[in-house]
Amino acid sequence: MAAINSVADLTREGDIAVVTINSPPVNALSADVRNGLRNGVDQAAADPAVKAIVLICGGRTFIAGADISEFGKPPKGATVPEIQTSIENCPKPVIAAIHGTALGGGFEVALMCHYRVGVPSAKFGLPEIKLGIIPGAGGTQRLPRLSGVENALEVILSGNPFGAKQALEWGVVDALADEGKLREGALAFARKVIDTRMPLRKIRDLNDKIDAARGHPEIFEKVRRDNARKYRGFEAWHGAMRAVQAAIDLPFDQGMKLERETFLNLLPTAQSRAQRYVFFAERQAWKIADVPDSTPILPIKKVGVIGAGTMGGGISMNFLNAGIPVTIVETAKEALDRGLVTIRRNYDNTAKKGRMTQADVETRMGLLSPGLNLDALADCDLIIEAVYENMDIKKEVFRKLDKVAKQGAILASNTSYLNVDEIAAATNRPDHVLGMHFFSPANVMRLLEVVRGEKTAKPVIATVMQLARKIGKIAALVGVCHGFVGNRMLHQRQREANKLILEGAMPWDVDRVIYDFGLPMGPFAMSDLAGLDIGWSKETSKSSTIREILCEMDRRGQKTGAGFYDYDESRNAKPSPVVEKIILDFAAKKGINRRTISDDEILERSIYPMINEGAKILEEGKAQRASDIDIVWINGYGWPVYRGGPMFYADLVGPDKVLAKMKEFEATMGEDFKPAPLLEKLAAEGKRFQDL
Ligand SMILES: NC(=O)c1ccc[n+]([C@@H]2O[C@H](COP(=O)([O-])OP(=O)(O)OC[C@H]3O[C@@H](n4cnc5c(N)ncnc54)[C@H](O)[C@@H]3O)[C@@H](O)[C@H]2O)c1
Repeated sequence: MAAINSVADLTREGDIAVVTINSPPVNALSADVRNGLRNGVDQAAADPAVKAIVLICGGRTFIAGADISEFGKPPKGATVPEIQTSIENCPKPVIAAIHGTALGGGFEVALMCHYRVGVPSAKFGLPEIKLGIIPGAGGTQRLPRLSGVENALEVILSGNPFGAKQALEWGVVDALADEGKLREGALAFARKVIDTRMPLRKIRDLNDKIDAARGHPEIFEKVRRDNARKYRGFEAWHGAMRAVQAAIDLPFDQGMKLERETFLNLLPTAQSRAQRYVFFAERQAWKIADVPDSTPILPIKKVGVIGAGTMGGGISMNFLNAGIPVTIVETAKEALDRGLVTIRRNYDNTAKKGRMTQADVETRMGLLSPGLNLDALADCDLIIEAVYENMDIKKEVFRKLDKVAKQGAILASNTSYLNVDEIAAATNRPDHVLGMHFFSPANVMRLLEVVRGEKTAKPVIATVMQLARKIGKIAALVGVCHGFVGNRMLHQRQREANKLILEGAMPWDVDRVIYDFGLPMGPFAMSDLAGLDIGWSKETSKSSTIREILCEMDRRGQKTGAGFYDYDESRNAKPSPVVEKIILDFAAKKGINRRTISDDEILERSIYPMINEGAKILEEGKAQRASDIDIVWINGYGWPVYRGGPMFYADLVGPDKVLAKMKEFEATMGEDFKPAPLLEKLAAEGKRFQDL
């Protein structure tokens, strides 16, 4: 055995050379790994006794991707084009032997080889899009040549991995080895290549599948049409489309050049920086400064849910999906039945779309036990309350629950705004009480705000964080305050939106600016969707806000066919002349001189007060770090990932610029814009939220 360098060695099995990369934990494509690959292949190629070369990795995976820590640093070691030359132009067949996850640059290295062998558990993928870039080492040019253009688009645009069975079907791997016997399988395949004189097959020369897609622009048109809304403004997505298109339109080398240029152009963009930031932010969010990994975890074998309304049903589905039995309790049979019917209908719809079998539906429903009495929750390890948002009712529920629930059981509230400490004080186990704030629809939205009470015990927090991961959520730890992190900041935007429409803008102006910024919808469209009558009552309504007036007119949002907008039968929104008149009349009555409001002002007044509130949240220790706030906004409110979240956006704009604007607004519009001390401090010190 000959060492090539610290991470690579070269061995011989008769006339087959084996280049092994061993760079824990995931054999990322670092400078050492690149050198090892190039030099290993070159040395094997130069050995006259070698007839074929197997490229394999030690540890748990084939090369799992680029070394993300090298991004933005000066290049070192062998370049990717050099590796490509060594492998693809090697005069002897090179066979990649793949286990674990061949992702990104790792998969691209495998695609430079002449053949690929994988174990059945291997996964393949090009996740670059998730970092705001596109594959930069031939992925967009080679994959379509193997898998066909439509499959390649799916892989490259989604960034999601695919399995070995799929890879074999698409021709991405040439053979499967037995699980755990990759080396043997790859050597056997190499033997066959030598013995049957299989040709040096370069993917760059395979044109059948590319030719088949030529002259079919509808392939790309359909993808564009289906994703226009979701990916508007997302540069990497459009770059990836262009690169795959180039695989069809241009000769291989020119396609490679276009891919490389697109990759290099995207790498330094704010969007790509934002996505890399989010990548790390997602990993950070799980870490809690004073709750170490060694904190004991309580077993959660059975979950109870109180309330089978909008949230209770969705919350239950999360646990059923994870195979955890749920007991759901309501006060009345009708409400309970309605809740169960909704859960089943949701599952049936998923099954109809082919994303679940009918057997899966039955398994999940089989794990669900309905009840009409809190006593049914006596054996649950975790009980989540999702009844009406009313402190007295919640306290009453927790008082009773405390008597019924077994010792050691965790009691959680899904409250959106209420004080979790006050709820905890209604029990004799405040150390076992916390908030689990799910977002609607709770079976879909990824975010969970885990609300830590004053007395919540560390094992309780650790347990709920771990459980969140198990049910596929991303959790952010937050402190007790009105609206926690997400809704507390949302309130700032809503307040400004309401002011803006009196001062001169129309609801559709505000919504357009927020939508164009990249959020799924603006504040007024969102209100119409949620229903304008949340928290409204006919008895107390006094026509004192636009919203009250609309509710009084029975314009309660989408569900009544009218709200801030008019809706047609398919719920398409149209600006409403009625609402326009209501706003103009109301402003006149209030003596407001309406003025023209620029899009810039709408954006700044919507977002800067949110950032300012985020700064206060950090000062008060209600969030652990600025990036957790961004995680909340990306996963709970649809803030576009490629804009990194509100606090990252503040860093991009510059805290000093945000501060200057806030001061300017404060001078003319007062209190609502009073800068947070932390914002002042960052601006004065020339620092960013990320530096905290
Ligand atoms: N809807 C949302 O978007 C959303 C999002 C996050 C959090 N929340 C919070 O979740 C909670 C529930 O909201 P929702 O939208 O699901 O309300 P909902 O009105 O749809 O459901 C509440 C259910 O609780 C039942 N209920 C009331 N008292 C009960 C009791 N004592 N025992 C058992 N069941 C009882 C009601 O019959 C009703 O079915 C609230 O605290 C709310 O603030 C709501």
